[in-house]
Amino acid sequence: MPLFLCFGAEAEEYWSRPLKAQGIPPAAWSELEESLDPQSCGACHPDKLAQWSGSLHSKAFSPGLVGQLLALSKEDTQDCLDCHAPLAEQAAAFEAARKKGNAHRPEAQGLAAAGNSCGGCHLRGHQRFGPPQRSTGAVGRITGDLPHGGFTGTKDFERSEFCAACHQFSADQAINGKPLENTIEEWRASPQAAAGQTCQFCHMPDRQHLWRGIHDPATTAAGLTPKTSSDQDKARFAVTSTGVGHAFPTYVTPKVILHAVLLDGAGQPRPGTEKTHIIQRRVEFDGSDWREISDTRLAPGQTASVEIAWKDATRARVWLEVQPDDFYHSVTYAQLRRDLPKSSAASRLIAEADSRTRSSIYRLFTTEIERPSPSGDHP
Ligand code: HEC
Ligand code: HEC
Ligand code: HEC
Ligand code: HEC
Ligand code: HEC
Repeated sequence: MPLFLCFGAEAEEYWSRPLKAQGIPPAAWSELEESLDPQSCGACHPDKLAQWSGSLHSKAFSPGLVGQLLALSKEDTQDCLDCHAPLAEQAAAFEAARKKGNAHRPEAQGLAAAGNSCGGCHLRGHQRFGPPQRSTGAVGRITGDLPHGGFTGTKDFERSEFCAACHQFSADQAINGKPLENTIEEWRASPQAAAGQTCQFCHMPDRQHLWRGIHDPATTAAGLTPKTSSDQDKARFAVTSTGVGHAFPTYVTPKVILHAVLLDGAGQPRPGTEKTHIIQRRVEFDGSDWREISDTRLAPGQTASVEIAWKDATRARVWLEVQPDDFYHSVTYAQLRRDLPKSSAASRLIAEADSRTRSSIYRLFTTEIERPSPSGDHP
């Protein structure tokens, strides 16, 4: 939803979309300063380019997106581009490729292929907007002898609300009281927000453009604290959300599973003994309305656990399985793969996207638990 950022005296609809075309750049500018291509920005901001290139923001014009856009009207396409490739010049490039019949080819998509690119967040009418100047902390118009006519520094770039444009749906889209994307509201209710930790604090430390989230095992591990325990009857594996500033996970798309299984004398899992607990918000679309089936996500501070009875075993293995893209695999792509004509360009893109949902799965915290030796030993 549009977010109204206030730059100085003039209130500007910074995120009101679709974004306006940048227009004609100042005549004195070099080709490099005029260019909207992230590679051009990278000539002078190489660290930002390298970080962004590894992030999911740079991959937002993905096979899973384009596979769906091919069947959409220009208007419906624009709704998706508002968050996945927001510059007007990106929509124009994609529609031009569509006219030539090669919209499915990344090399024909031009600037659209850059996805959530530098310009979408930083450029309006060719002017650069960014956080307060790093070296001086200055805000407002900063010109001097700088390329691209300098820039406007504003603290709005340091606020969580900056991210709301794409990471928060409006309250009127709620399902069982919660929109499908409710990250900012979840964050507002968190102890991390109360402690002044913004989205940028966790996802852009030192202004880095990495935006690591649930697709990065180390980031997920850093947000959680695992704990194992056991007594004579059972073993227990628990995970507490200690460093996630919103629900874990925030979206309906990931599925997270706690596992526990008994082991035999050779350390092999004993068939039929596995216990699981699922952390996920499950929703269903019946063709006209969304419905929530269940919501077992962890609010900050909450714990989920799985227990397994020892029976005659003495060892158990536990782990956390993370499937960041479960919903796309089980629902979105499953349906598209049924509906799309086989061997069409769209069905090839969706097949590729679906295979990526399988390669993104990983495990954390794999541990073996020993049954404690019987207490109060009798001779
Ligand atoms: C010819 C070199 C050059 C090119 C090309 C260039 N920049 Fe810059 N940019 C600079 C310099 C130098 C500054 C000033 C840095 C400072 O004073 O802290 C700057 C400042 C900025 C700032 C403000 C940083 C802050 O502290 O808030 C942003 C944002 C920015 N550029 C984005 C971009 C984007 C996006 C592109 C590509 C569309 C781009 N720049 C292309 C050289 C360049
Ligand atoms: C113009 C829209 C837009 C804005 C603004 C935006 N994002 Fe995103 N973000 C996206 C999209 C789209 C994706 C998913 C990209 C993909 O995988 O196709 C994403 C992905 C992410 C991810 C990766 C999540 C994962 O699954 O691992 C993180 C973290 C993230 N964004 C954080 C932020 C933060 C923090 C901000 C504010 C500084 C922000 N985003 C601003 C659109 C946006
Ligand atoms: C309000 C912003 C927003 C809009 C509008 C939006 N998306 Fe997304 N999209 C996101 C964010 C954020 C993510 C990453 C989090 C997630 O997986 O839910 C994402 C993820 C995705 C993904 C999975 C990652 C990938 O790139 O393969 C697909 C596919 C996708 N969106 C397709 C679409 C399509 C198709 C539309 C239009 C019908 C659309 N989106 C509209 C914000 C948006
Ligand atoms: C999803 C939105 C988004 C995208 C895409 C994005 N940025 Fe940024 N950028 C930000 C935010 C937010 C900040 C301020 C972060 C903070 O203050 O913690 C920032 C800060 C900056 C700064 C000031 C940095 C500093 O270290 O002082 C520069 C320069 C910059 N970005 C350039 C770029 C370039 C170049 C690209 C593309 C390669 C890019 N940005 C892509 C949101 C974005
Ligand atoms: C205290 C640190 C912290 C703060 C604050 C925080 N996050 Fe996260 N975020 C994480 C961790 C850790 C993960 C990985 C685990 C997970 O997916 O919840 C994550 C994951 C994500 C994801 C991946 C998708 C998913 O379903 O979880 C997105 C998108 C995201 N964050 C966006 C945001 C936005 C937007 C904000 C600000 C409103 C924000 N985060 C604030 C730590 C934080």
